[in-house]
Amino acid sequence: MENGEVSEPTLGDPAVHLPPGVIVVTGASRGLGRDLVDLLLAEGREVIAVVRRPGLVEAMGNGADLSEVVADLSTPRGIEAAISAMREALDAKPLAALVNGAGAVTPLGPLADHGCEAMLDAFTLMAVAPARLATGLAPLMVNGGRVLNLSTRSAHESFPGLSLYCMSKHALHAISKSLRLELPVTLAVGELIPGEVDTGMQADLRAPDPEGFPLATFFRQNQANLIPCALAARFITWVLTGTGRDDFSRTEPWFIYDTSSHRHWLPAGVEFGYSAP
Ligand SMILES: NC(=O)c1ccc[n+]([C@@H]2O[C@H](COP(=O)([O-])OP(=O)(O)OC[C@H]3O[C@@H](n4cnc5c(N)ncnc54)[C@H](OP(=O)(O)O)[C@@H]3O)[C@@H](O)[C@H]2O)c1
Repeated sequence: MENGEVSEPTLGDPAVHLPPGVIVVTGASRGLGRDLVDLLLAEGREVIAVVRRPGLVEAMGNGADLSEVVADLSTPRGIEAAISAMREALDAKPLAALVNGAGAVTPLGPLADHGCEAMLDAFTLMAVAPARLATGLAPLMVNGGRVLNLSTRSAHESFPGLSLYCMSKHALHAISKSLRLELPVTLAVGELIPGEVDTGMQADLRAPDPEGFPLATFFRQNQANLIPCALAARFITWVLTGTGRDDFSRTEPWFIYDTSSHRHWLPAGVEFGYSAP
C-alpha cells in the first residue's frame, strides 16, 4: 500500500480500529503528548500518562479516566519502575496501546562535546525506554494492541549539533523494525513523524547562539512554518485509533506532510498550510 492510502474504516470490525482498552502515553506533561492525552480523553479513552513530575491529573481535572505514573525514562531504574507502576495502575484492565512520545533534543552540540553520561541518558530516553516499555507491556496488551513510536526526520538523516538526538532516534527506527518482527503477531507497531510542531522542543532548537549551533538560524526562520501542536496531535490520534491494523504497522513511517491522508484527520474547512522543510 502506498503512503497515505488507507482502507476505509468499517465500524465494528476489530481489524480496522484500535480495540477498546487503556492507552499509555509517555511524554504526557506537555507538547504533543499532552495534546494527545486531551484528544484521547475526549474520545472516551482511558489513559495512563507517564510524567517526570506528578500533577498532570490534578492540572487536567479529569480524574476518572486519567491516571499518572511518575518516572524518569532516561534511567534503567526509572524505566523498570514505570513498568511495575503501570501494571499496578492497569489493575487487570485491558491495555490497548503504548505511545512512546517522551524525547528531548537537549543537550545540543557535536558528539565531541558529550561524555558517556549524556550519550547514555539520551539513548536510554529515546531508544531503550521505548523498546523496554514495549516488551514489558506487550504481555498485557489485548489482541490488536498497538505500539506507536514518535519518530522524526532525524531518525533517517543526521544533522550537525543534533548528534545525541539523531543517534537515539536512528536506534528507535531500528527498534520499531525489531518490534514489528518479534512482538506477537496479535500486536501492531507503527512509526510516525509528526513534522515540525510548535512545542517546547522547537523552542529548544531556536534558543542557542548560532555561533555554537548554526542550525538555530534555520529553526528561527522556520518558526512561522510550525504545525500547531493540537493539529499534529489529531494526526497522531487518527493513526493510532482510526487506521486499520495493516495500515498502522506499515514499514514506512506515517508522515504528517503526506497530503494523501489529510482528508482522514484534518478538521473540516482547515487548510494544511505547512511545508516539509
Ligand atoms: N516538536 C517537533 O517538531 C517534533 C518533530 C519530530 C518529532 N518529534 C517527537 O515528538 C515527541 C514529542 O515531542 P514534543 O515536541 O512534544 O516535545 P516537548 O514539548 O519538548 O515534550 C517532551 C516530553 O518528553 C518528556 N521527557 C523528556 N525527558 C524525559 C525523561 N527523562 N523522562 C520522562 N519524560 C521525559 C517531557 O517531560 P518534562 O515536561 O518532564 O520535561 C515532555 O513531556 C518526541 O519524541 C519528539 O522527538 C517532535
